[in-house]
Amino acid sequence: MKRIINIFETTDDLSQFVAQQLIKQMADLYEGQFFSVALSGGSTPKSLFRYLALNYLEQIDWKKLLVFWGDERCVAPESDESNYRMARENLLDLVPVPKENIFRIMGENDPAEEAIRYAETVKKHLPSLHGIPQFDYILLGLGEDGHTASIFPDQIRLFQSNRLYDVATHPQSGQKRISVTGSVINQARMVSFIVTGEAKAEMVARILEKKPGWEHLPASLVHPENELLYWLLDKKAAQNLHNTDQLN
Ligand code: 6PG
Repeated sequence: MKRIINIFETTDDLSQFVAQQLIKQMADLYEGQFFSVALSGGSTPKSLFRYLALNYLEQIDWKKLLVFWGDERCVAPESDESNYRMARENLLDLVPVPKENIFRIMGENDPAEEAIRYAETVKKHLPSLHGIPQFDYILLGLGEDGHTASIFPDQIRLFQSNRLYDVATHPQSGQKRISVTGSVINQARMVSFIVTGEAKAEMVARILEKKPGWEHLPASLVHPENELLYWLLDKKAAQNLHNTDQLN
C-alpha cells in the first residue's frame, strides 16, 4: 500500500482534487466499462458532492459511474439522517448518473437482512478478487472517535467481519447502521479519506502519527493491500500534524 497525505487550503481545493482523481481514474475506461464508487455519509461529503455537481457536470462521465454506499443509517430514504438522501439532494439529482446505476442501502429494511442483500448486490455488480468484490474508489470519512464508515471503536471486530457488509450500532444513539467491512475496504483499488475541520485534528494526528492507542481505531485498519490510500485533509484537520512531508 502507498499512503499519500494531501493538505488543502480550502474544502473546494480538496473537492477539486477528488474530482481530478475520478477523472484520471475513469480516463482509461473502455467502451461499456463502468467505474464503481462507494460514497461515505455524514456532513463532510456534502460540500464535495455539491462542488462536483456545480463544477464537474460536464467533465466527469457520470453515465459510467456505478454508485454504492460504504454505510447507511437504518432509516427511511427520506429521513434527514439518510446518507442516500444527502447524496441524492446534493449530487445524484444534479448529475446524469442513470437511476439504474444507483444502488442505495435500504435503511428501511431489517438490518441483518439488508446487510446480506446489499452484499449480494455489490458482489453482483463488481469484479471480485480472491472472492471479495473490488471497488474502484471508496470514499471514507473519519469520526472524532476514530470510526470510519459505521465501524466504531467499541465494535472494531466488525472490521474483520467475514461478511462484506455487517450491522453496526451507533455507540451513543443505539441507531442501527449497515456498514462495509474491512475486507472490502482493503480490497479497493483506491481509498480516499476526506477529513475537514479542527474537531478532527486530534484524531487525524493520532492515527497518522501512530500516537498511543492508534492501533485500536477502525480508521487505522484501512490499508488497501496493493493500492493507493489517500488522506485528503483541509488545513484545520491537519493542524496537529508535524513534519507532514515525512508522513508520506
Ligand atoms: C456516517 C458516515 C461516517 C462519517 C463520519 C464523519 O454515516 O456518518 O459514513 O463514517 O463519515 O462519522 O462524519 P462527518 O463528516 O459528519 O463528521
